[in-house]
Amino acid sequence: MTHILGRTLPASVRADFPILATRPGAYLDNAATTHKPRAVLDALVEYYTTANSNVGRGYHELGRLSTDVYERARQDMRLALGAAQPEEVVFTTGTTDAVNAVVDGLGRRLLGPGRAVLVSGMEHNSNLLPWRRLAEETGGELLTAPVDRHGRVDLDAFTALLGPKVGLVAVSHVSNVLGTVNPVADLVAAAHRHGALVLVDGAQAVPHRPVDVRELDADFYCFSAHKVYGPMGTGVLYGKRELLDDLRPPRVGGGTVKGVSAVDPVRYVPVPQRLEAGTPNVAGAVGLAAALRYLDGLGRDAVRAHDEHLVRYAVRELGELPGVRVIGAPQETPSGIVSIVVDGVHPYDVGGHLDQHGIAVRSGVHCASTFLDALGLLGTVRLSFAVYNTESDVDAVVDALATVRPGVWTNEHPTTRFL
Ligand SMILES: Cc1ncc(COP(=O)(O)O)c(C=O)c1O
Repeated sequence: MTHILGRTLPASVRADFPILATRPGAYLDNAATTHKPRAVLDALVEYYTTANSNVGRGYHELGRLSTDVYERARQDMRLALGAAQPEEVVFTTGTTDAVNAVVDGLGRRLLGPGRAVLVSGMEHNSNLLPWRRLAEETGGELLTAPVDRHGRVDLDAFTALLGPKVGLVAVSHVSNVLGTVNPVADLVAAAHRHGALVLVDGAQAVPHRPVDVRELDADFYCFSAHKVYGPMGTGVLYGKRELLDDLRPPRVGGGTVKGVSAVDPVRYVPVPQRLEAGTPNVAGAVGLAAALRYLDGLGRDAVRAHDEHLVRYAVRELGELPGVRVIGAPQETPSGIVSIVVDGVHPYDVGGHLDQHGIAVRSGVHCASTFLDALGLLGTVRLSFAVYNTESDVDAVVDALATVRPGVWTNEHPTTRFL
């Protein structure tokens, strides 16, 4: 396969990702997880070979060095997100962990009989199930703002659902199914006018666009490192300082206390350490900081232009294929994702067929079956792009789709869905 990168990024980008040299074919499952550039792998090795030690605990040089490195990564996250202070950045294991931390730490004060949390109809299970379980456990209500047939949040319906009983709105910045970009600043402003807090799931936004949490005025914002070229097992929960100060730590343990005695009340340290019980994933934070530096080095505008070009190219090329439907309108606000349906062929048969051609895509419901239900679809086949993808990757999909046929899923399990 020849690879011609889009107009905005140099061809050398592909050489930055060692795994690409070992695996020919097209990796188009970046919304699930991205590959890691050498700069991130090197940062992990460097951390473990030069600074490895627990943080905030030992009175020795390596302990201080490791703590410095970790806190520098936090400072980098503050700058990347436009947060007011590093204390507003909590390292988590990922987006799922961050959402659960807010649900555990704040949820029972927000939800109960006569009270509600509002989610959008396009949420990933990670920003749906924690709220749903909380509603079930507290007798509160989980309201859902409907999506239109293009997969956009219906703004009028969203606003109409806001009211005194809604304590918090949980909404994704970018849909992991269709790549729809939500007008988060408008949603936040509307929610705030009605006195509701807003948690934004930025898992699919941070890889593709600069995010400024103060511009959005989000109360909480979370994302995962592994979807933005960083390591697995790391993520960020941003929260406004006064809200984090007020958050009940979802977990307690080492690293969170000033002092513990058998008789006196436990005295906890301030945030963010109060919210990071146990040994943190220091290398993960360091790797994430390296990943964001790598993206900055490529140029955020160039990354976004590359991404937009590939989305528009894919929509054009795939849209011309007979029997192939592009779902939603990803070309309007391109954000790295194009979802398609092949008429008469189960998405798993399409995914399996593409796999046989060396193409990795995600097929199915993308952990968002309620959204797929709202769209009236069994599932989709999702192409999701990263900085190393090329027009040739899209061309490979187009070529392979010419020979896709109904297979075992279509014929024997036509309505089966997983995940
Ligand atoms: C929009 C969205 N939210 C949350 C998640 C969960 O992320 P993680 O598994 O890294 O916690 C994903 C992962 O696919 C996602 O796409």
